[in-house]
Amino acid sequence: MSVDLSISFAGIRFENPFTLAASPCTDSAEMVSRAFEAGWAGAVMKTTSVEEEVVELCYPMMAGLDFDDKKVVGLENIDLISERHIDLVEQDVRELKANYPTKIVGASIMGARKEHWQTLVRRLEAAGVDFIECSFSCPHGMPERGMGSTIGQDPELTERTARWVREAATRVPVVIKVTPLVADLPAIARAVVRSGAHAVCAINTVKSLIGVDLDTFVPYPNVGGKSTYGGYSGAAIKPIALRCVAEVAKAVNIPIAATGGITTWRDAAEFLLVGATNLQICTAVMKHGFRVIDDLIDGLSIYLEEKGLSGVEELVGRALPNIVDHSELSRSYRPVSEINLETCIKCDVCYISCRDGGHQAISLDENRLPRVDEEKCVGCGMCATVCPVWDCVRLVPR
Ligand SMILES: Cc1cc2nc3c(=O)[nH]c(=O)nc-3n(C[C@H](O)[C@H](O)[C@H](O)COP(=O)(O)O)c2cc1C
Ligand code: SF4
Ligand code: SF4
Repeated sequence: MSVDLSISFAGIRFENPFTLAASPCTDSAEMVSRAFEAGWAGAVMKTTSVEEEVVELCYPMMAGLDFDDKKVVGLENIDLISERHIDLVEQDVRELKANYPTKIVGASIMGARKEHWQTLVRRLEAAGVDFIECSFSCPHGMPERGMGSTIGQDPELTERTARWVREAATRVPVVIKVTPLVADLPAIARAVVRSGAHAVCAINTVKSLIGVDLDTFVPYPNVGGKSTYGGYSGAAIKPIALRCVAEVAKAVNIPIAATGGITTWRDAAEFLLVGATNLQICTAVMKHGFRVIDDLIDGLSIYLEEKGLSGVEELVGRALPNIVDHSELSRSYRPVSEINLETCIKCDVCYISCRDGGHQAISLDENRLPRVDEEKCVGCGMCATVCPVWDCVRLVPR
C-alpha cells in the first residue's frame, strides 16, 4: 500500500490511528502485546487507581442488545475500573515500552482526590507511559466517591481536576475522556482547554438500562436478583459519538481521540472526517478479537487510494464545514425520490413507509412496482432509508 496511515495525536506519532480503548482488552501487558503483534498502533491501559482505592466488581457484568437477528448491536457493561492497581500497571507499561518501543502506550487513571490524581501521573510518567488519559466519564463508575462522570458533567470540576493532572504531568500529554451525558459538551471541551490539558477523548459509554427479563422482572445483567444502570457501547452509540466528536472539533482547537461504536473502516473514516486524529476501539474487539485491525487497515488504505489521498491526515476534519445549524440549511432544496425499477425487488417496504409514515406519494402499479408521484413527494428520504436494496432508491434534485 502506498498510502501513509501514520498520524500525529497530541504531538505523538502513531503508525496508524487505531488504538485499543481503556477496557478489558487492555487489562494486562500480555493482552496488549498480542494486540501490538496484530498491528494495533497503540493501547490505553484499563483505568487504574492508587493501591488504597478498593475496586470490587460484580458479575455478570455484560449484556447485549440483539436486534433483527444481529447479536450485540449494542453492549451494556457494569464493569468498573481495573482491579489491578497502579503498581501492576507500572510494570505493564515498563514491559510494553521495553518490548515495543515504537508502539504507543497510554495509561488511564481515576482518582478520588488531588493527591491520588497527581501520584498516578508521576508514577506512570516514571514508568515510561506515552500519554495519560483521565476518565472523567464512566457513567456508573463509583459516583458515590465523586469519580467517573460526576466530574465530566461539571465544567468547573472538569477544569479543576484536569489542572491537577496537567500540573503533575511534566513530560507527557494529558487527554481528558469526556462523557456524552451533558447538555453542553462544548462547555466541557472549553473547560478542558482552560485547564491546559492537551487533548480530548470523546466519548465514554452512554448510561443505559439494556432490558428487563420478562420472567423474573430483573433487568440485565442479573447480579443475584438485582441489576443497575450501566454503560452502553458498540455500533449502536456511533451516531452519538460522531456528533460529540464533531461538536468538540467545531468548538475548540484541540486534538481529539474518538471512541464509541467504531466497528468498520467506514466508521473510522467518518470519525477522521469530523476531526478525530486517534481512533479508540473496545466493543468491536471484545466481540471479534484483535484481528479486526486487518480489515480496518486494509479498508482505510484502499479508501484513501481510491480517493487519491496520500495519507490519513488529509481526511481529518474535512466534513466539519458541511455541518451547520439547522437554521442555516437551505429551505429551497427540494429533492424527489427516484426508484430504479431494474433493481427493485417489489418488497413494498417503500410504499408502506411512504403511505403510513410519509406523504402517500408512492403507489404500486399493476406489476406491484412502486411509482412515485412527483407532485406529492416532498423528498423526505424515508423510502430511500428503508429500501433494502443498495442504491435502488435515490433522492435527486428536481
Ligand atoms: C466492559 C467495558 C469496560 C470498560 N472500561 C473502561 C475503563 O476502565 N476506562 C475507560 O475510560 N473506559 C472504559 N470503557 C469504555 C471504552 O473505553 C470505550 O470508551 C467505550 O466502550 C466506547 O467505545 P466502543 O463502542 O468501541 O466500545 C469500557 C467499556 C467496556 C465495554
Ligand atoms: S421521499 Fe418521502 S414523500 Fe417522497 S416518495 Fe419517498 S417517502 Fe414518499
Ligand atoms: S423498498 Fe426498494 S426494493 Fe422494496 S419495493 Fe421499494 S424500491 Fe423496490
